[in-house]
Amino acid sequence: MSEEQAKKGIATQLVEAGRRREWTAGIVNTPVYRASTILFDDVAALRAAAPRDGTLYYGRSGTPTTWSLAEALTELEPGAYGTRLFPSGVAAVSTALLSVLQPGDELLMVDSAYEPTRIFCNGVLKRFGVSTRYYDPLVGRGIAELIGEKTRAIFLESPGSLTFEVQDVPGICGVARERGIATLIDNTWATPVFFPAIQAGVDLSILSCTKYIVGHSDVMIGSVTTTQKRWMRLEQTSRGLGQCASPDDAYLAGRGLRTLGVRLRQHEEAALRIAGWLKDQPQVADVLHPALPECPGHEYWARDFRGASGLFSFVLRGGDDDDRTRFIDGLAHFGIGYSWGGYESLVLPVDPEQIRSLPTPERAGPMVRLHIGLEDPDDLIADLAKGLAAYGLKG
Ligand SMILES: Cc1ncc(COP(=O)(O)O)c(C=O)c1O
Repeated sequence: MSEEQAKKGIATQLVEAGRRREWTAGIVNTPVYRASTILFDDVAALRAAAPRDGTLYYGRSGTPTTWSLAEALTELEPGAYGTRLFPSGVAAVSTALLSVLQPGDELLMVDSAYEPTRIFCNGVLKRFGVSTRYYDPLVGRGIAELIGEKTRAIFLESPGSLTFEVQDVPGICGVARERGIATLIDNTWATPVFFPAIQAGVDLSILSCTKYIVGHSDVMIGSVTTTQKRWMRLEQTSRGLGQCASPDDAYLAGRGLRTLGVRLRQHEEAALRIAGWLKDQPQVADVLHPALPECPGHEYWARDFRGASGLFSFVLRGGDDDDRTRFIDGLAHFGIGYSWGGYESLVLPVDPEQIRSLPTPERAGPMVRLHIGLEDPDDLIADLAKGLAAYGLKG
């Protein structure tokens, strides 16, 4: 990144990044360039070509549409060298892990990681001779005591899936760097807008762009952004595995990126209002939102993050799964479904204790995860209020 780019504000970067004139030809958004075959002028040109980002070679190596998005994501992470794109967030997570591990290695994986990340470690990585040890998200610099002879990588997800513990990312990465251990983070919740992870000391920053980057719940796409040191292995591994993103999907993700800043601020404001309101409801025992002081690791959020997105959980007071199901089924403005980061609000029943390796705290009742979309917060509060008023009243 040039010095001039580094000086720009984040909103300006979101608008301008990756829109090279040579790719756009003056059109505002880099168009969709679809390709498998690229035609060369002659055999000499064919032989001189090589699969490189920024050079037309073969469809899998990308086109201006994918390079434009990758360049923009790199620019948002000060200290980053490059970005690779993937057909989903899970493909980004698995390829990033494969790029830093080999048989015989041990991986330290945060216990609050997204479930399919765990499934990849416990299945594929195990089959290829990599062992995984799960650690407490709040371990901080205490990670030093868990590092063994064979530890080669530490994976973070901050805040954690479902329970939203915020990690001491600079602390953990500082320890890892002293020992030459690679660090990876699933940064999907904050995005580089609220948490520039590479600047905080992380080596590989992973996004499910499916969520906030796309922002409209209609595309699957992932990315990994790295430092120069980790770039070559990431590039070789992703090329070797044939990983690439569709130009149509990259186009939509690039378009989503331009409005990410304003969308995130709106998600943040509405989610904070609703989380604060929920905290005061007698039917709610706990609200797990990184910006609330009672959230585990809140002090790291306050120290390191520039904002909070729209995803958080809360714990109902008493009741069982049937009561929770009735509550969720009765909501009018919250869709029931996986994923998050789109413009619409979503709700899910979640049971973190079923997937964790380490003991989880006792809870006062069942847990619910909300994604707060761009609707009027008053409508969402009225909907939740109606559901809570009936909570626990068996029909
Ligand atoms: C924290 C987190 N990381 C990664 C993913 C996976 O992304 P994708 O659905 O794009 O594969 C998800 C999806 O829900 C997620 O919540």
